[in-house]
Amino acid sequence: MKVLNIGSMNLDYVYQVDHIVQPGETISSGGMNIFLGGKGMNQSIALAKAGVEVYHGGMIGEDGQPFLDACKEYGVKGEYIRKVPGKTGHTIIQIDKDAQNCILLFGGANQMLTEDYIDEVLAGFEKGDILLLQNEVNNVAYMVDKAYEKGMQIALNPSPFDSKLDAVDMSKISIFLLNEIEGGQITGLSAPDEILADMCKRFPNAKIVLTLGSDGAVYAEAGKTYHQPIFKVQAVDTTAAGDTFTGYFLAGLVEGMPIEDILKMSAKASSIAVTRQGAVPSIPYRKEVEEALQTM
Ligand code: RIB
Repeated sequence: MKVLNIGSMNLDYVYQVDHIVQPGETISSGGMNIFLGGKGMNQSIALAKAGVEVYHGGMIGEDGQPFLDACKEYGVKGEYIRKVPGKTGHTIIQIDKDAQNCILLFGGANQMLTEDYIDEVLAGFEKGDILLLQNEVNNVAYMVDKAYEKGMQIALNPSPFDSKLDAVDMSKISIFLLNEIEGGQITGLSAPDEILADMCKRFPNAKIVLTLGSDGAVYAEAGKTYHQPIFKVQAVDTTAAGDTFTGYFLAGLVEGMPIEDILKMSAKASSIAVTRQGAVPSIPYRKEVEEALQTM
């Protein structure tokens, strides 16, 4: 079983601020760093650091070489990544003194995926392989349809949630990884237990992971639910916490681990990521996650 992730690559311009800037306000930042990120690349790196062989697909611009270098460094298979004229996607991220963030996204090359390119990438995969998707690239609905036709298992992190997802046939999704807000947008509900129950009713054959911020995460499959609390830590930057959880969760599924262990490993990996700055550099290796689990 191979894992393919077709997803975004963003240069994250991260600014430390006292508070998130308000409309009409000008504030000074306390510092700025550029990190590699993008939900897609973060999740591929999390999968690779967890020990899974993962192929990454997507587009970078002329300034995107650092992503190819990162794939080499962390063991992500980057041969499907294409360089196109123009700019790589980027973000402006503000991190406040309580480690909360807000993110402004510029799609750039992430929005240039053509149907021909998608067909070319999917040709390397077959029935039973996993396709992981988020919503920071274009043509998500097309990828879902084509991968489903091939019999691939599709894991969707519908983030950021927007109207482009209306075109996606969600009944073709095997694994949902979403937070309360995204769950609310799909179901129209707000209480987490109602969201989960409604998702299970709508997608009875899917595995569903609903992350609940400081209340941890819940998982449901075939009428059974499991709850995983968070591991409390002093957070400095929550960027990529969800991506780390997603990558580790899929890694556990690929390995056939018991669900309770998958959830615990994913929560621990995510709790380590938030103690570090940046997206890609904050994601821990499997060895570190396992050592931390043993010392509990
Ligand atoms: O999920 C975190 C990611 O969201 C950041 O790395 C940023 O690039 C945005 O895509």
